[in-house]
Order: sequence, then C-alpha cells, then structure tokens
Amino acid sequence: MNMQKHNDKLELANWLANHVAQKLKAAIEKTGKASLAVSGGSTPVRFFAALSKQSLNWNSVYITLVDERWVPDNHERSNAKMVKELLLVDNASKANFLPLFQEGKNTSQIQEIEKEYASLLPFDVVILGMGGDGHTASFFPNGTKLSQATDPNTENLLIDIEAEGAGEPRVTFTLPALCSAAELILHIEGDEKKAVLEEAQKAGDANLLPIRHILRSNADLSIVWAP
Ligand code: 6PG
Repeated sequence: MNMQKHNDKLELANWLANHVAQKLKAAIEKTGKASLAVSGGSTPVRFFAALSKQSLNWNSVYITLVDERWVPDNHERSNAKMVKELLLVDNASKANFLPLFQEGKNTSQIQEIEKEYASLLPFDVVILGMGGDGHTASFFPNGTKLSQATDPNTENLLIDIEAEGAGEPRVTFTLPALCSAAELILHIEGDEKKAVLEEAQKAGDANLLPIRHILRSNADLSIVWAP
C-alpha cells in the first residue's frame, strides 16, 4: 500500500500543513486563487492548528468542507464550527470560507444551492478522513443515496445522505467532485484505521467499505498515516 508513514500525529500534522500550504501557494501563483476542501471529525485538529499558522496569501484561498452534518454552525457536531475555531484563526483568518449548512434549508434542497460551490472546482487540494466503518466524506455504508454520491458519472456536486452511523442528515461532495482534485489526500491515524484501510484494499463490496470507491477511482490518491 502506498502509504506515507509518520512517527507521530504532530509530525504528520506539521508535514501535511506544510505540504498543503505549498500546493495552495503554487495554485495562487498559477491562477490567482486556490481552493481547499477539508474533512471534519476529530483527526484534523492538529493539522488545522498547523495549517492556520502557515504564511501564504490566505485572502486568495477558498475553503469548504468535504461533507457536513446538517446542524447550525454553533452546534457541537458542526464541521463548520470546527473549521472556524481551529483553522480560520491566526494567519488563516483571512481565508474565505464557504460552509455547506444553510439556515432555513434542509438537505434535500442541496442541489438548489450546489452551483454556489462550482467555482471551487476542480479543488486544488482535498483532505479526506476515514471512519472505523470505512466511510469517507459522507459515503456511509448503507447510506440512503450512497450510489448517487459515488456514481463516477454523476453531474451533481453535492448529495444529501442519511445513514445509521451518520447521526444527523448530511450533505457530501460527490465522488467525481472530490476525485477531480489536483491533490487528493487521505489523512488517517491509528492502527485500527490502518487495518480498515488494508481490508479495503482487498476485493469486496465497495458499499460495505465506501473508502473503496476512492481507492478504486482513477484519482491519484496519497495516503498519510501516523500511529
Ligand atoms: C465527518 C467527516 C468524516 C470524517 C471521518 C473520520 O464529518 O464526520 O468529514 O468523513 O472524516 O468520520 O472522522 P474522525 O477523524 O473523527 O475519525
């Protein structure tokens, strides 16, 4: 498995922050702006702290989420809340943030607003996480719209999805939207997730371990891991 191993989580976070900053700088030099989609959950905490301190032209960086739990952005489970508190601080406070949750709308209306995110694509950088059940973004095993979300030919950028393991309803960027990224990175930590990923590399139903949809796509995926 092509997995870059780091000695510990902090070393990984610092490496990843520096790597992402270089990619964003290169995109800004080339096109005048850069787009970044990040995951929520617990894994990115150290990475967000390290990235927020990177010195670059943050005014030209547009940040969104790979997926969102459909809760207001002051809710404990909101990925937007986490990004605002941990990433959009320090130097990165100047970045432009496009959250996915919109007050007064429900997830089934996401396609009405997906064009608001079209200018971010193709993303310059996407950072994925993975759950112990093999989900990534909000591609959950047995998710209500998993097949639409992971359809390589879908023209939708965003899909609403519900699943038993997901908690609240969610929205997620679709497989082609994520896989079109110039730089696609899976950031995982711990032996348990390494074992899940090893299992996902084997033959089997992609809908049972949805990270397989990413692994089996044509995307040039980099995997970074620390114990
Ligand atoms: C979310 C995510 C999700 C996450 C994994 C891993 O909103 O939950 O974006 O796809 O990356 O669930 O989460 P942990 O880092 O908490 O294990």
